[in-house]
Amino acid sequence: MSPTAATTTNDQEDLQQTIQKLASLKPLGHARLTNGVITGFDPEWAAKVPESTKQRFEKYGVDISQGYPYIPVNEKVPKFVDEAYAIRNEEYPYVERGKNADPEKKLLFDAAEDVIELTPYIGTEIVGLQLADLTEQQKDELALLIAERVVVFFRDQDLSPQKQLELGHYWGQVEVHPQAARVGPEFDGNTVIWHDYFRGRYGRGVEFRVPNSNWHLDLVHEYQSAGITHLHLDAIPDNGADTLWSSTYGAYDKLSPALQQFLDGKTAIYRSAHQYLDRENPLKGPKYVEREHPIVRTHPATGWKYLFVNRAMTVRIVGLLPAESDLILNYLYAVIETNRDIQVRWKWDTSLGSVKHKKDETEKNVYRGVSALWDNRVSNHSVVFSRESIVGRHGTRVTSLADTGYFDPNSKSQREALGLSLE
Ligand SMILES: [Fe+2]
Repeated sequence: MSPTAATTTNDQEDLQQTIQKLASLKPLGHARLTNGVITGFDPEWAAKVPESTKQRFEKYGVDISQGYPYIPVNEKVPKFVDEAYAIRNEEYPYVERGKNADPEKKLLFDAAEDVIELTPYIGTEIVGLQLADLTEQQKDELALLIAERVVVFFRDQDLSPQKQLELGHYWGQVEVHPQAARVGPEFDGNTVIWHDYFRGRYGRGVEFRVPNSNWHLDLVHEYQSAGITHLHLDAIPDNGADTLWSSTYGAYDKLSPALQQFLDGKTAIYRSAHQYLDRENPLKGPKYVEREHPIVRTHPATGWKYLFVNRAMTVRIVGLLPAESDLILNYLYAVIETNRDIQVRWKWDTSLGSVKHKKDETEKNVYRGVSALWDNRVSNHSVVFSRESIVGRHGTRVTSLADTGYFDPNSKSQREALGLSLE
């Protein structure tokens, strides 16, 4: 080997080692957060866990004495985008549980005290059933109900983080995020949703004057899309941060047949919310995991077409010029975000009748949770953030990954399939 070639090889090795060292100093984290990520147990924040959350954790043996939440240790956090791709890069066997279910859902409905449809086509509340006690057939029926109604709610729940994970595993491969805060090292896949923490630790702000509309769907960059997503709030402040869901079955039905035809069979590029480094060119700025999916997809359980886009993480429609893609995507976002008849707004509250019954301080701190289970494929969601309503809100979220996404040209839209007027 000539001296010049040897120097080049050594230089390359030095460079690679330097890049590795720099990358390992600080994981990059979520693109929208301004501070760096702290990894491992967070000792400072365990003391700030809301009272009712503490009760839930104590009851079910979740130890937060070393700190809370828990973030994967630095060595386990992927720094380079190729590492992030490799986490889930091939098909995992998936059973669409709703397909096994009784279309009448008799076992689920007969056991419930009440089944309340919150709007004609999106949102159902089930009263008088504990999620923790559902049988396998009831879980299948619930999966079908979620696929049809987009989001299903259960108030007054007593649900351990372990049971929440168990339910998630039943409905699909549980998504384990490589960077997200979780309940503990033994709770891979049970993600902490705690705005006080994200704001206090990472600098995610809530300002009154900042536009308050963060419509999105979760994990669009995944090889297999997020299906049933289960958020369980165990600490709910007064007037606490409502959540809205919008049906993308409904959004598809809102388009003219000409636009539907144009979009049918097209694909789009979707990106991750978290950012990574390019190993070959680490100085070139953050990289994202990007994947291509059909923009109009068919739901495996209902057979209905739905629009798979969201403002936060859709990059472009494949085959169009950037300006054309932006124009069409912005129109689709507007359809999803502004049509109230395809949306439901949920007020998180542990019990019905809360308007008449003003809780005293002791009752407020008693753990009874509220669960929302939605099909992430067929919806966008948005939380109403405000300084006054988000403080003290805490929950845990488990996401079951579903199919890779496909478009069946013979499938129908929801309104077509149900024989409803499109006029
Ligand atoms: Fe979300």
